[in-house]
Amino acid sequence: MKGVVLAGGLGKRLLPLTKITNKHLLPVYDRPMIYYPINKLVEAGIDQIMVVTGGNHAGEFERLLGNGSQFGLDNLRYAYQEGEDGIAAALALTREFVGNDKLCVILGDNIFADSIAARVRQFDKSNLGAFLFLKETQNPQRFGVAELDQDGNLLGIEEKPAHPKSSYAVTGIYMYEPSVFDLIAQLKPSARGEYEITDVSNHYIKAGRVEYEILEGWWTDAGTFESLHQAQMLTRAESMKRNSEAKKK
Ligand code: DAU
Repeated sequence: MKGVVLAGGLGKRLLPLTKITNKHLLPVYDRPMIYYPINKLVEAGIDQIMVVTGGNHAGEFERLLGNGSQFGLDNLRYAYQEGEDGIAAALALTREFVGNDKLCVILGDNIFADSIAARVRQFDKSNLGAFLFLKETQNPQRFGVAELDQDGNLLGIEEKPAHPKSSYAVTGIYMYEPSVFDLIAQLKPSARGEYEITDVSNHYIKAGRVEYEILEGWWTDAGTFESLHQAQMLTRAESMKRNSEAKKK
């Protein structure tokens, strides 16, 4: 299983914070934002990761992360995305690195509490095309939103719908089989001009080859001032809880 962290895009919603640095290098409590998705993959037993960067500050990722040995990685690679033509376009750049393996993709601005280790192991052995992680949210309009039937079957995902069909957001952690790259190669850009990860997942949903889990712990993105602030508070609380538990031992 290979890991991918997508840290391209221009982070325009965080200007002027992102005027002279990349969004994923901004501090979230006591570490740079990109440490969180990398650590999440490492905790799940993934030791080969590609980071896709973009914008003007790509060299800083190498200065910060080096060859990944500080995280216990065997192999850390980098790819560079010109422009910001979407999450699926960024993922397409990892095709050669991923090869015939399955992959777990995390958006570089997504931070969450739960471990994904058990699901990663399960997906690796399964015949599923994709696996998604959902979380109930008060503002689903900001996200990809799951449509579920009464029995909890996943019927489809709508990207940032004005009238969401549920309150379950599709979070920025996705697992796919390697056929995902053939699928992305056939995608057309959406109305907002991006190659959408939602279109990729919908394809597997139509084929009946997707399962999902509803995350129990907290989840947030960190791409707006409000959500970045939220991420700071949640990670601080988590770190303090860990420290006090460690002191008790
Ligand atoms: O946070 C989860 C949401 O992320 C999902 O619910 C949505 O379905 C998904 O489309 C995405 O929505 P956003 O509009 O919030 O994504 P955003 O453009 O903020 O990009 C999220 C991360 O993806 C960003 O931190 C870096 C990476 N990215 C994004 C784009 C557009 C790239 O690497 N390249 C890109 O071109």
